[in-house]
Amino acid sequence: MRRPVLIAVLLAGCSSPAPREVYISIGADAIGTAHGVASLHGARIQMVETDGVVAVLAYDEAELEALSHAMHEQHARCGGYMVHDSLADARASLQRPADGGEVDYTLDRAAMVRTVLPTIDGAAILGTISELSAMKNRYYRSATGAAASIWLRDRWRSFTIRPDVTIELVDHGYAQKSVILTIPGTSRADEVIVIGGHLDSIAVGGKAANAPGADDDASGIATLTEVARVLLAHDVRPARTIKLMAYAAEEVGLRGSLSIARDYQKRKVKVVGALQLDMTNYQGSDRDIWLMKDFTSAAQNRFLIRLIDGYVGATWGWDACGYACSDHASWNRIGVPASMPFESRMSQRNTKIHTRDDTLELSGNNAAHAVKFARLAAAYAIELGKGDLGGAQVGSTAPSSSSSLPWKLIAVVMAFAAIWLARRRRR
Ligand code: BES
Ligand code: ZN
Repeated sequence: MRRPVLIAVLLAGCSSPAPREVYISIGADAIGTAHGVASLHGARIQMVETDGVVAVLAYDEAELEALSHAMHEQHARCGGYMVHDSLADARASLQRPADGGEVDYTLDRAAMVRTVLPTIDGAAILGTISELSAMKNRYYRSATGAAASIWLRDRWRSFTIRPDVTIELVDHGYAQKSVILTIPGTSRADEVIVIGGHLDSIAVGGKAANAPGADDDASGIATLTEVARVLLAHDVRPARTIKLMAYAAEEVGLRGSLSIARDYQKRKVKVVGALQLDMTNYQGSDRDIWLMKDFTSAAQNRFLIRLIDGYVGATWGWDACGYACSDHASWNRIGVPASMPFESRMSQRNTKIHTRDDTLELSGNNAAHAVKFARLAAAYAIELGKGDLGGAQVGSTAPSSSSSLPWKLIAVVMAFAAIWLARRRRR
């Protein structure tokens, strides 16, 4: 699919007859396509730099729309390239070397993970996908796109009355807001873990289009929402700060996540890891979870495999997007270990995304596949977040816990005091 917003803006600036060069980043496997389009019209193209996966090209602005078409035809990518404001910005889109090597990925919270994971509810995920995909669209500049942010904030709010847990809307200057839920860390609060997905949807026609985006990415938001629900229902008290993020405006160039990541970088927030949930409910392949190798951290990906094998009970494989296909790339760009577990092989992906046909029906009207991703994300939050379960677990039969202990002591002391007073009075 084309990226209507960017293209429209670029065409509006095309009144000058002189060709204007812009810098684009594109999958290295599509360099031939870019050359083909340019040579067809005798336009200039120059390779600036490539890391083997991504290439930075100087490209004739007038050829961008034709390139969009060619990318769609030849690579089934939606746009498949990004236009940058400057050469420095374009260069920054090259992959960063694998990182995460310095993070301790020890697994030592098995009891906690095994308490929380069985409470993940497929029906709850299905309900959220159903509600989100019933909106006309969640386009970043539409009224319904804005309403989706409010709707999600309110749903997340309903999960807890804990005063330390905050849910905020992030204003990026357009209608849709990103939504961030924060569970503050107890002992290592300055170390942050991010689990995200994108709230927006898109189809040709922008604001006016029907874009249910049931898979892309209501499924990821619903998965994230179920992780929020179970973590809070079990009163999880992580050592590190956990942030669940529903990004605005991913479909128009990762805009919400890029602005959040840049802000964190500027404020020197220490993000230990980021997990992206983008498309989790369409089972297109023989194996369950596909780990994207590009724009991600090899060390954190290996940690995910241990979580899958140890806790999720799903099959997995390796694949690659071939370009900065989702918000994990925004974190990778600032050096945060990022991962993108995906629902199918790229070659067997859901071809209905970005159309009116991206509906729940395509996933058999159930959320069985997304449950595996919710299990993985919850295990990730617990094992990387560390910490404990609090005392206010919903439906918990746990006999006692540290947070209720002081009250028990006070009760015992008061009981003794009452007996002593009664005896004194009798004397
Ligand atoms: N969910 C897609 C990315 C995707 C699609 C990953 C198919 C794997 C298989 C995402 O929302 C998206 O559409 N991304 C854009 C790129 C973005 C930078 C605008 C795309 O793929 O064109
Ligand atoms: Zn998309």
